Amino acid sequence: MNELLIRGGVPLHGSVKVKGSKNASLPVIAASLLTDGPVVIEEVPDLLDVRTMIEVVKSLHADVNYDSSREKLEINAGSIKNQEPSCELVQNMRASFLVLGPLLARFGKARITLPGGCAIGSRPIDLHLKGLAGMGVEFSVSGGMIEARTDRLRGERIYLDYPSVGATENIMMAAAMAEGTTYIENAASEPEIVDLANFLNSAGARISGAGMKSIRIKGTGGLNGTSHSVIPDRIEAGTLILSAAVTGGDVVVNNVLTDHISPLVAKLKETGVYIEEVDISAVRIKKGGRTRGVDLKTLPYPGFPTDLQPQFMTLLALSEGTSLVTETVFENRFMHVDGLLRMDADVIVEGNRAVVQGRNALQGATVQASDLRASAALLLAGLAAEGTTIVSNIDYLWRGHSGLEERLSGLGAQIEWRTSSDQEQLEISGE
Ligand code: EPZ
Repeated sequence: MNELLIRGGVPLHGSVKVKGSKNASLPVIAASLLTDGPVVIEEVPDLLDVRTMIEVVKSLHADVNYDSSREKLEINAGSIKNQEPSCELVQNMRASFLVLGPLLARFGKARITLPGGCAIGSRPIDLHLKGLAGMGVEFSVSGGMIEARTDRLRGERIYLDYPSVGATENIMMAAAMAEGTTYIENAASEPEIVDLANFLNSAGARISGAGMKSIRIKGTGGLNGTSHSVIPDRIEAGTLILSAAVTGGDVVVNNVLTDHISPLVAKLKETGVYIEEVDISAVRIKKGGRTRGVDLKTLPYPGFPTDLQPQFMTLLALSEGTSLVTETVFENRFMHVDGLLRMDADVIVEGNRAVVQGRNALQGATVQASDLRASAALLLAGLAAEGTTIVSNIDYLWRGHSGLEERLSGLGAQIEWRTSSDQEQLEISGE
């Protein structure tokens, strides 16, 4: 089992670069299936989830070449013969479900397993199916498999009961090649939606309004090959910014689209963290005195992102006073609290709310990651804590971050990766 050993209490200093966005890369890879022309995608980070998505499109017999050293991905879906992605891959990564819209648009049919839930929630797909059904897709579900087919995808006005990111993406990709015009009302407006729309428009789609609550997609007969560079990962940017805040350091984070992180910046300023834009794509974080606790509620974009709630809670666990954290997006996104409690944090969870009493310090401990963002929260806690922390199941971190531990080490963090077999030989020095 892979784990990170962190010797905490070291303020981070220096500058660090954010990589391309996981949650923009995955839908853009899926959208590459819409065209039989060559697609080149740059700034694609070497993540476990990106590797899984590559395997998914390969399971459909698309030609894929990934140069991880240059973070450059080339896809040609001209020779796809199969409309049934690997069940195992779809079940172990929910974003694989995003191939449904492209397969229906290109071939009029698909057979795909119901994506599993995961640690943070049941992750239903009813809004995906409801939207696509409205465009003329017939579904039959049995034995955990979905059979989907349509004689012709037609443009429709679709209202999403909830601004689901994935449903917006699946419907937008299908609508790009439907007959007529589709309107998605109450659409998700995350930056990753805008990036996907930009990719599709560069391939010849006619999408307007991405990033707003209503998106219009005029269907076209087909899309062309194209090239695209993925936006920076706003969640990784937030995690790096918070690593400076929790350790009381002074760090410049580069390759950040600052308007994508404005909810985080606003909240950090409320706690007393010094953060300033040093140009349009970088921010500097310096922690002054002890931070103040603040109340936090996660919401769809442009609200505070649920994917930064666990990491921000680590800062609140060290901030003066009481904070109320309300998680409105997922039903089970406090899995990081167990680990924080083992590190002497004071957090009480009641339903979708957590009350955090700030402590002067956290104590190093052996903790277990349960999901990607929980692993990031525990990593940050280890960086801030007195003594040594071991975070096990660190493969979760690698689903969403490439070389994060090396980049943090470049800022002075004392982190080493090891497998648990080394654990017996190591005395955890208490300091
Ligand atoms: C995307 O997941 C992201 N993943 C998530 O990031 C992110 O947390 C989430 O959006 C919200 O911002 C990718 O982009 C690959 P949703 P997605 O559909 O599309 C409910 C990470 O850590 N819902 O907006 O699955 C659902 O249950 C991951 O990088 C339905 O009820 O999110 C949830 O409560 C975690 N029916 C809420 O909507 C549906 O058909 C938000 O889900 C779809 C969703």
